[in-house]
Amino acid sequence: QQKPKVIIVIFGATGDLAKRKLFPSIYRLYKSGKISEDFAVVGLARRPWTNDVFRDNVENSIHDALSTDENIGTFSSHFYYHPFDVTETSSYQDLKVLLEELDGKYQTDGNRVFYLAMAPEYFGSIAQNLESYGLKESAGWSRLVIEKPFGHDLASAKELNNEIRAAFDEEQIYRIDHYLGKEMVQNIEVIRFANAIFEHLWNNQYISNVQITSSESLGVEERARYYDHSGATRDMVQNHMLQMVALLAMEPPIKLTTDEIRSEKVKVLRALRTIENEKVDKYFVRGQYDSGSINEKPVERYRDEAEELIDSNTETYVAGKVLIDNYRWSGVPFYIRTGKRMAEKSTKIVVEFKDIPMNLYFKTNREKHPNLLIIHIQPNEGVTLVLNAKKSGGSLAEPIQLAYNNYGYDGINTPEAYEKLLYDCILGDATNFTHWDEVAYSWAYIDSILKTWETTQADFPNYKSGSMGPEAADKLLEKDGFHWWPITEIEK
Ligand code: BG6
Repeated sequence: QQKPKVIIVIFGATGDLAKRKLFPSIYRLYKSGKISEDFAVVGLARRPWTNDVFRDNVENSIHDALSTDENIGTFSSHFYYHPFDVTETSSYQDLKVLLEELDGKYQTDGNRVFYLAMAPEYFGSIAQNLESYGLKESAGWSRLVIEKPFGHDLASAKELNNEIRAAFDEEQIYRIDHYLGKEMVQNIEVIRFANAIFEHLWNNQYISNVQITSSESLGVEERARYYDHSGATRDMVQNHMLQMVALLAMEPPIKLTTDEIRSEKVKVLRALRTIENEKVDKYFVRGQYDSGSINEKPVERYRDEAEELIDSNTETYVAGKVLIDNYRWSGVPFYIRTGKRMAEKSTKIVVEFKDIPMNLYFKTNREKHPNLLIIHIQPNEGVTLVLNAKKSGGSLAEPIQLAYNNYGYDGINTPEAYEKLLYDCILGDATNFTHWDEVAYSWAYIDSILKTWETTQADFPNYKSGSMGPEAADKLLEKDGFHWWPITEIEK
């Protein structure tokens, strides 16, 4: 098979994402021979850099991210820098000339990825300018990769989508959700549908609840301006958390094609029960971190992290009970929680099965242990099945674990998810990108929650840095007779 040839055009090439994820990802694709030698990368940003300065930056970012001392001069010689003002006609005209020149030089067949890794306010106008100045017109294909946030709510997402769709077809648009590039997120579907033992139990007859936790120990860091405008619900739930819900809850696709898989996910998102007004506080808990300590180091509260945050009402934590109104899932809560400055950096899914009908093997009903299927997304990758087996020397049962662990793999901060997604895009496979319908239904779901919260002042801060969130999040499950699985204990 011929290796893909392409020019990757990065808008926002001096930014953090390009440095931490994109350059290392392109390097890994090059090193593993997945892209052909015939490729070029054009970096665009306002700074008046030269090709040499850009190439130095690219090399440094690869050394930093991949801890390699390798000489990568040949690789970085494929990188070109072009000072760019996204609002200037001449910028686009000059870029067109440069791309045509590079098409000739590297024989890239006119294939182009336009990667928007910059402030979202320009997404729409860039897409339209790429169209009006003829940058999409080439002998090959053109694809547009868009980073989040895709809008601030349903209305603005629609507006943005209309702007982009005026210039690009849906098939040319690749909306990134980097969780969909994570190995174990992709594995959810395979674990479910490539095994005979789960699918028959995967419904409201046998599953009592599902818990998805994505905790982070870092705080808001350098992103106060973006984050305070966004909050945990927009930042993590609208995209990553609801995508995991969709993958866990969807019906088996009839084929492994982009359209079939996406359409199953969309059905789940359409079936989410809307939570409105006074019900919001019954189903969702918001939090904001107070001071506390992480890894024994004292850390300050959110409101002290930057001047503009002093009276912020933005949630840095959210927990919720998500209900899916369809035949398979009616009555099964999907509990989600995510937040900054929590005890550890970890993403896990726990599927809790219902109790056995009769207790023969435990002294008391309270000692009964449900079966759990745990999918470890990061930092470790693995799957644990918690079963009951005979206690050695006795007749009673105790929980044991069947575990597959890809230990040694540290999935945090590696560029792998981006590498996979970028490669998929170059190959034209949009399966692990979000279709507009998915974006729209997930915005619609969280819009009603946020609308209610916006009208009330929250009692913040309400959880200590280094904890697992506010007490109310525990109560959310206790009311239903469940509790968050103390995941670290299960792992012991
Ligand atoms: C991003 C959010 O989408 O995901 C960040 O904007 C968050 O706030 C990050 O830290 C988490 O991603 P990961 O891969 O580190 O779990």
